[in-house]
Amino acid sequence: MIKSIFNILEKLEEQSTLEKLRQINVAPEDRMLAITKETGELLNMILRLKNAKNMLEIGMSTGYSTIWCAEAIYEQSGKIITIEQNPNKIKRAKENFQKAGIADAIIIKEGLAIQILRELNLQKEYKDFFDFVLIDADKENVIEYFDLILPMVSAGGVIITDNMLYPEKYKQDMKFFSDYLKKNPKLRTITTPIGNGEEITIKLK
Ligand SMILES: C[S@@+](CC[C@H](N)C(=O)[O-])C[C@H]1O[C@@H](n2cnc3c(N)ncnc32)[C@H](O)[C@@H]1O
Repeated sequence: MIKSIFNILEKLEEQSTLEKLRQINVAPEDRMLAITKETGELLNMILRLKNAKNMLEIGMSTGYSTIWCAEAIYEQSGKIITIEQNPNKIKRAKENFQKAGIADAIIIKEGLAIQILRELNLQKEYKDFFDFVLIDADKENVIEYFDLILPMVSAGGVIITDNMLYPEKYKQDMKFFSDYLKKNPKLRTITTPIGNGEEITIKLK
């Protein structure tokens, strides 16, 4: 891992911990709500195992998860398309990507995830295109997001969904989502207790 990436990940981890412990005062809409370090390591490892090149992220926030993924994608000269609606978070993410030295691997799509996914879904170039996807935005629309994403995932592609087990308030809806995935014979899926609970889903060949 190049040193600038490690430094920025460490700084963001400190910020995230302070926010979670409410030791610093941040407006709710500006909180990082980042994946855990363990989840970052998992994403990085799967990307490396797959030699993934084309990634889609829904819910970038200030870029902590994006940077974990970029660290692996960068070596493949790959690209991450990432979606975020909050302009303040986008500004902070851009600064973080510059500091980490990975800004040229990241394409930020600003706006509502559902609209951007519908637009991407209509473009032929994205059919079977992404070999790795992270879903980590609002949880209410997770099934709709998944259905729009699936045709854009290559055979053998991996989709990770965060917050399957924590916070508690999402648990029931996320279980419903996992059961929905299990009904699809074209998928293999498992809920793991890593981080806040990660659903690891594979689109079968
Ligand atoms: C849990 S945070 C993402 C954390 C990030 N993946 C990380 O680990 O650093 C969810 C993010 O999704 C964004 N978001 C929520 N609903 C959205 C929507 N409908 N469209 C686009 N972005 C959305 C929020 O602004 C927030 O920054």
